[in-house]
Amino acid sequence: MRIAVYHASKYGNGAKLAEELRKLMVEKGNEVEVHHVSDMSPRDVPPADLYVFGSPTHFGKAPGDMIRFLKKLSLPPGTRYAVIATFSAAMPDKRTGKMPAEDELERVRRTVPMIDEQLKAKGMIKVAEMRAFVNPDTMKGPLLDGWQEKVLMFVTQILERT
Ligand SMILES: Cc1cc2nc3c(=O)[nH]c(=O)nc-3n(C[C@H](O)[C@H](O)[C@H](O)COP(=O)(O)O)c2cc1C
Repeated sequence: MRIAVYHASKYGNGAKLAEELRKLMVEKGNEVEVHHVSDMSPRDVPPADLYVFGSPTHFGKAPGDMIRFLKKLSLPPGTRYAVIATFSAAMPDKRTGKMPAEDELERVRRTVPMIDEQLKAKGMIKVAEMRAFVNPDTMKGPLLDGWQEKVLMFVTQILERT
């Protein structure tokens, strides 16, 4: 397969996940290119069997550079894609000490639905998604333990579905 990965990593965590994906996919005989969305015009994306979009979460959303890139992307309906989203890990409420419930977290983590909305409107077909988390003490990371296993599971899921 030919795989093109476009990410909007700010601090390098999403870029690290993309690089691990590239390594594993290349080991399995695939051809993979990885770019930051700011280094690539959405008009110039090459033909590929699968596009992977990697996005951090800023104020609950996929950042503007990611969404602008997706809006300008013109790929044929039926084109397959997968999503990597990164978030800060959840933290206990400062006052109550309680962890937020999953549905509360979903409401403030709009990254994946925002990306899906853009791509599904173009008739693109999603084959897999992965979510990874960075240390919540800073916005910068590092990625929480277990991220390599998540990328491996993501790769397995993609290969099963393509
Ligand atoms: C301005 C800003 C706002 C952020 N807002 C959120 C947020 O609302 N929810 C969240 O889970 N993480 C938030 N984060 C943390 C990012 O999710 C984290 O920096 C990112 O996933 C790390 O990936 P990257 O190194 O590829 O940029 C924010 C980070 C920045 C810089």
